[in-house]
Amino acid sequence: MRLVLTKHLKDGDIIAQDIISSEGGVLLRHDTRFKEVFKSKLIERHILEVYVDDEISKGIEPTKILDTTSKNIIKNDIKSEFDKLKDNLELDVQVLNRITHFLIEQLGNKELIIELEDLKTNDYYTYEHCIAVAILTEVVCNKMQIGLEKKVSIVMGALIHDIGKMILPKDILNKPSRLNEEEYNLIKTHPEVGYMMIKENRELNVITKLIVLCHHEREDQSGYPFGKGKELHIGAKIVAACDLYHALISDRCYRKGLPISEAIAIAQREPINPGIRKVIESCFAYYPVGGMVYLNDGNIAIVERNFSADIKRPLVRVVIKEGRNVKQTYKINLQEEDKYYITGRYEGEL
Ligand SMILES: [Fe+2]
Repeated sequence: MRLVLTKHLKDGDIIAQDIISSEGGVLLRHDTRFKEVFKSKLIERHILEVYVDDEISKGIEPTKILDTTSKNIIKNDIKSEFDKLKDNLELDVQVLNRITHFLIEQLGNKELIIELEDLKTNDYYTYEHCIAVAILTEVVCNKMQIGLEKKVSIVMGALIHDIGKMILPKDILNKPSRLNEEEYNLIKTHPEVGYMMIKENRELNVITKLIVLCHHEREDQSGYPFGKGKELHIGAKIVAACDLYHALISDRCYRKGLPISEAIAIAQREPINPGIRKVIESCFAYYPVGGMVYLNDGNIAIVERNFSADIKRPLVRVVIKEGRNVKQTYKINLQEEDKYYITGRYEGEL
């Protein structure tokens, strides 16, 4: 399969993956034949790229780091746990433990490269954001070879880091325009509010609690609530960095999610730990599998597989055209062929 800009879809194209709306419903199922009348509806809903199956991209399959069923189970469990907080009820630490260990088991032993799709949320709900940050945190902890016991506390901290937002007004959390000072000050209370919710919970580890309290602290002391600096716990630094990256790549009510190249450029200017930032950058696919790119020789290629050794040099399938027809395709492994490199994404038609 390959990624095609929605504006280039043609009658009869075969949809390769279910297209999900921001409300979570299926708009078009995989294997559906595309019809021109769908186009404006998809574009209206900001679905600007779609995977299609065709002959030239046969055998190219983006890998998902978690299967959809597991992801949905985790979403439902975390949502019901977070909803309890609105009624002043306690979190069930057993549920958090089960999900944390499941994520560690599922993601622990693989050499993972995260496609942005893996972390995309249907909406920027607090519980969905927390799950995505926990997934990224787990992958980062693995790369940093953090021991199991510590990793459990850190990933669990990521899983609940924003619980303080559950009792903040929704219209402020989702405000599409700039927050005024009063609103921003209210949002800034969420680490302390979250900490108060779990402070007395004896089943939760102190590192987990610390992450909830300190995930907006920054190394240059510009963060909140305390303006702490370099002495911050490594777990709080990891979650702070993963939180920032997920916010940048996600669709928000006021802007589309950024491509990883732009997220990396912005994160470089933020006071997050540079070592952790580098680890995060090596976790993401720079060019998505199935995406089309330009090579330096002017040819167009489809990304077949990414390698974490150098995320900018994937295995690609070059597509040579003659007029409107595809004349030939061949593979180049950019990890091995030094004279070729990718110059940018190709956004035209094939
Ligand atoms: Fe937060």
